[in-house]
Amino acid sequence: MKRKIYVLGSLNNDLVIYVDKLPKPGETIFGKNFMTNVGGKGGNQAVAASMLEENVFMISAVGDDYYSENLVKQLNLKGVNTKYIKALKNQKSGTALIVSSLDDNQIIVDKGANDLVDYKDFFENEKINEQDILIVQYEIPIKIANEGLKIAKSKNMITILNPAPAVKLDDEIYQYVDYLILNQSESEIIFEIYPEKNQDFDKIIEIMKQKTIKNVLITLGSKGALLIENNNKFYQEAFKITPIDTTGAGDAFIGAFAYGISNNLSPQEKLKFANATSALACLKKGAMQAMPKLEEVKKFMKEK
Ligand code: RIB
Repeated sequence: MKRKIYVLGSLNNDLVIYVDKLPKPGETIFGKNFMTNVGGKGGNQAVAASMLEENVFMISAVGDDYYSENLVKQLNLKGVNTKYIKALKNQKSGTALIVSSLDDNQIIVDKGANDLVDYKDFFENEKINEQDILIVQYEIPIKIANEGLKIAKSKNMITILNPAPAVKLDDEIYQYVDYLILNQSESEIIFEIYPEKNQDFDKIIEIMKQKTIKNVLITLGSKGALLIENNNKFYQEAFKITPIDTTGAGDAFIGAFAYGISNNLSPQEKLKFANATSALACLKKGAMQAMPKLEEVKKFMKEK
């Protein structure tokens, strides 16, 4: 039976301005091409997996403001099952202010209704199978995210934690996480290591042994990604591209990695497939709307 992928996480309305160079604190600069998009790390990851033809459900919350209905509608249009998204009265949906330059971006999130996300309805009503996948990030209350992981593990689901925005993690949580997926800055906050060199990854393996952390995947931007699975290191370099907008690239990677788990790909294949999906997501503007289709990823991998 095909696995299902559940995403417990955020939905944001993204307000984006493109700039040549990110502003310094206190500086006012001109930007261009203002856009309003549907986003949120949770929503982006859900859509990424859904575009890869996975069976995806989103567990989230929106408000009752002007943008809320459209957030749910856009996810539906991308094939995500939205029955566990609550529409909350007198609340505003999550909003992200994004300043995007060619090589980086700055994001400020007002969580809005994401602060009231709850998993109760989902765990009470959904027929979950063992080895279905739960993906969680930290744009919702950390307590809810962590409890979600714990319940998922008690049901023998495969769990992915993307601790973004990053905070210091309580060691207790690792027993409920099968894959911890983070970027270099998040690794610096969580492991106090900004990983670049081989020795840095070896230090992370030592921490993993001490704290009994199962599998760690670190995305390295234009350098690719490194997976530490069952104490073995797997490195995959990034595809060479000229990015147009990197917003949501990490989310594309995570949705695609979940596809890899769901389709029983090998560690190296999972990394390559996720790298390809993430590269393609950088070739279009926006986050959710830039997620590629399965056939596009396959074609890209064949041609490269
Ligand atoms: O990871 C990109 C996402 O971060 C954006 O879509 C924005 O909503 C913020 O949550």
